[in-house]
Amino acid sequence: MAQAARRDPISVSPRFTSSPVAAAAPSVQVRGFTRAFGATRVLHDMNLDIQPGEFVALLGASGSGKTTLLRTLAGLDPAPADQVAVPEARAVVFQDARLMPWKKVWRNVALGLGGGDIRARAKAALSEVGLSHRSEAWPATLSGGEAQRAALARALIREPKLLLLDEPFAALDALTRIRMHELVLKLWRAHDPAVLLVTHDVDEAITLADRVLVLEEGRIAAEEVIHLPRPREVDGEFQALRRRLLGHLGVHGHAPAEPETAVVGEAAELIAFRQRQDVG
Ligand SMILES: Nc1ncnc2c1ncn2[C@@H]1O[C@H](COP(=O)(O)OP(=O)(O)O)[C@@H](O)[C@H]1O
Ligand SMILES: [Mg+2]
Repeated sequence: MAQAARRDPISVSPRFTSSPVAAAAPSVQVRGFTRAFGATRVLHDMNLDIQPGEFVALLGASGSGKTTLLRTLAGLDPAPADQVAVPEARAVVFQDARLMPWKKVWRNVALGLGGGDIRARAKAALSEVGLSHRSEAWPATLSGGEAQRAALARALIREPKLLLLDEPFAALDALTRIRMHELVLKLWRAHDPAVLLVTHDVDEAITLADRVLVLEEGRIAAEEVIHLPRPREVDGEFQALRRRLLGHLGVHGHAPAEPETAVVGEAAELIAFRQRQDVG
């Protein structure tokens, strides 16, 4: 695929409150979509645009409907075509790598692919994620970070126009997570998909995304467009964004109530790590 020149950062925000007709054809277009389980309405009259090649992060309290939205966009749950438009080529990475234990790593990456040369293609994808040396390994022998690299290779070999990531780094240690952030940005630049990253981690969202959304009561309740150049430093503007996003999530000051404690703990861990890196 062509190495697209990236605009970085995105300067024009496709407003989630805008009229149904966007300036350029969005990659994802959700219009008035409602999803209920029994009497519980999880997504409520939701509107969302994601532009081609845009990196969007989605924050929200546990149970706010993030995975429900992602599954809808992935086509794993049904949705009316006039309410949810997505590209044909999509791929999903979940928190667990979901590799088949009886298939070697490269066969997991090639799963479901047709055509010739799938072994070579799988190996090229594994090389891109820094895992060529593990292509003949069994999934059970991979570390958590390696398994997620394999999951990313399996997603990207399909050349998705929309890459859906559901807390893919949540189970990884802080150092591995930072390496995965760098990898995801590299892959995003090389393959140019639109990305929707679901995360609990405010700092992860600010570090990676062009735009951060907050899901609340079934709708996109807030958005922040991130204009910081990459790689992003934890500077004053970063911290101001963090404060605003934590505010949108209902976390104020240093004594948050449950369930947002996890967000703050996560943020503090990463900030401390980055600061150690800066001085070290
Ligand atoms: N298949 C389902 N059947 C019934 N309820 C569900 C189903 N999937 C999700 N829910 C409910 O919808 C709400 C949102 O879930 P989810 O999208 O997984 O939240 P999040 O990913 O933000 O933590 C939760 O209350 C959850 O229990
Ligand atoms: Mg979820």
